[in-house]
Amino acid sequence: MELPESPTQSAGPALVLIHGFPLDRRIWSPQVDFFAPTHRLIPPDLPGFGVALHEKSIQTLEDYARWLLAVLDGLGVGSFVLGGHSMGGYVAFAMHRIAPDRLAGLALIATRSAADSPETAATRETNAQKALKEGPGFLADAMLPKLFAGDPPPAHVPTVRSMIKIAKSAGVATALRAMASRPDATPQLATLKIPVLVIAGRQDKIVPAAEAEAMAKAIPGARLVWAEKSGHMPMLEEPDLVNRELLALVKQAAAPR
Ligand code: MLT
Repeated sequence: MELPESPTQSAGPALVLIHGFPLDRRIWSPQVDFFAPTHRLIPPDLPGFGVALHEKSIQTLEDYARWLLAVLDGLGVGSFVLGGHSMGGYVAFAMHRIAPDRLAGLALIATRSAADSPETAATRETNAQKALKEGPGFLADAMLPKLFAGDPPPAHVPTVRSMIKIAKSAGVATALRAMASRPDATPQLATLKIPVLVIAGRQDKIVPAAEAEAMAKAIPGARLVWAEKSGHMPMLEEPDLVNRELLALVKQAAAPR
């Protein structure tokens, strides 16, 4: 297997990577290993996930984006390349709605632009109430079979279970309700004027390949990369591919346009 070129110089905008639901920053471990020595990589835990406390003021995806902007302002980050995995992609679309000028590039990884169907939104509300009553543990058994291309790889199962176990009940309910009420981001796609990378898992059981392909086609100049052996978690299933493509995106974002 061809290994990606290792980044050798620190250049260009910071790379901010937002995890999906109901996970945390640990999904980006292979990207942290790859980029941290040379680049400014910021993989936050969204409020209510990982080590981040639940924030009562957060209700919508725009609220998550505003929270992230405040974090980045505190770190002195101006413009940045934003990568979003699944729900992280929904937050990235919200960021584009509220602060398009801060975005130097966008990576949409195993995500979609469409809003929820009424059925999906209703299921999210049921799950939000269950999480508030029982805790989020039930989501591990529900989600694990859907995350990876084949059976959940034993190397990743304990970490995924741990991510779901330590998520805060209120944070999980908030995220579910924020996703259920998000607007359709499809009309935004044609307005994206920055370098955009779409990485889609060919065997994604959550975002069908055709949906990812249609999204990429609607974005002017977007680069669509198929992670052929991946399901919903290409950053873990094909980390070299994801690292190489993110590095190319950061370089493209740094180049004068
Ligand atoms: C995720 O991975 O973030 C979720 O599956 C997204 C969703 O439920 O729409």
